[in-house]
Amino acid sequence: MIRVTELSKYFGARLAVDTISFEARQGEILGFLGPNGAGKTTTMRMLTGYLPPSGGSATIAGFEIVKESLEVRKRVGYLPETVPLYTDMTIFDYLKFMADLRHLPNAEDAILATLEMVGMLDRAEGYIGNLSKGMRQRVGLAQALLHQPEVLILDEPTIGLDPAQIIEVRKLIREIGKERTVLLSTHILSEAQQICDRILIINKGKIVAEDTPENLQARLTGAERVQLRVRGEADELASKISKLKGIQEVKTRSEGLLEFQFAPGKDLRPEVARLAVSEKFDLLEMRPINLSLEEIFLELTREEFPAEAE
Ligand SMILES: Nc1ncnc2c1ncn2[C@@H]1O[C@H](COP(=O)(O)OP(=O)(O)OP(=O)(O)O)[C@@H](O)[C@H]1O
Ligand SMILES: [Mg+2]
Repeated sequence: MIRVTELSKYFGARLAVDTISFEARQGEILGFLGPNGAGKTTTMRMLTGYLPPSGGSATIAGFEIVKESLEVRKRVGYLPETVPLYTDMTIFDYLKFMADLRHLPNAEDAILATLEMVGMLDRAEGYIGNLSKGMRQRVGLAQALLHQPEVLILDEPTIGLDPAQIIEVRKLIREIGKERTVLLSTHILSEAQQICDRILIINKGKIVAEDTPENLQARLTGAERVQLRVRGEADELASKISKLKGIQEVKTRSEGLLEFQFAPGKDLRPEVARLAVSEKFDLLEMRPINLSLEEIFLELTREEFPAEAE
């Protein structure tokens, strides 16, 4: 269980994480989805005790991340963005070193079980320096799993892996996530969709959406969106359309190109068409737009203040 309450982080004057709150239950894989610089890693580093928060609080498996950081570390496995691996150590020796740091009893058994889990039992005596990026990522994952933590925090676990390894690692994470709490970050939408039970979309330190992949998708297609093309400048038409009852949002995309939105089942296309014609516009095209999850994501994480030219 992860419980985060109004957690914030300032770097100097820059607010990297802005009073975020969320929860992840046991048996749940929660996806942290957001563009570069959104605050994913910063949040994860706070949760794992590597970075002190500037405000707010959080508990992991019931322990407070600052006041009970030792208890937290016992219960959390962390795959950092860049895994600090020692290239001149064998995989086994590295994991033994990590196990000893954690004062793990029966270290050897734990190492072998974990290596088996990540499919690297036959590589135990190999040097880390000789491993491919994907294999190193697996060693990082093994290190995070060694002490069988209740909570796993994985920062971009599939980055740098080849497609076959990505499938393997995703499968592994889903397996692991059955009894544990997993928070994983990614900027790959389809990945979040495939692995996660729930997705938090984070942008500029704020949570901008929180839902199941299915609902996020439905939300994108929930409102009906239509593109309208007329000849000439259409700003005035846009403002008239926006006054029609039931229209939720009108945007001017470029000269003569508008988008509007209405609630599902309340098709306002005829009204809009009549309005355009009565305002003496040449109606060139009107067609529905289906947003993909990618577009929804872009929509949610768009700059709040687009350039004037837009
Ligand atoms: N140690 C630091 N000192 C100063 N600023 C930092 C530090 N770490 C992160 N930041 C800033 O905080 C913001 C959030 O960064 P963070 O690494 O958490 O983003 P992210 O969501 O993990 O992005 P990415 O997808 O690129 O990994 C960024 O603006 C970043 O420049
Ligand atoms: Mg990051």
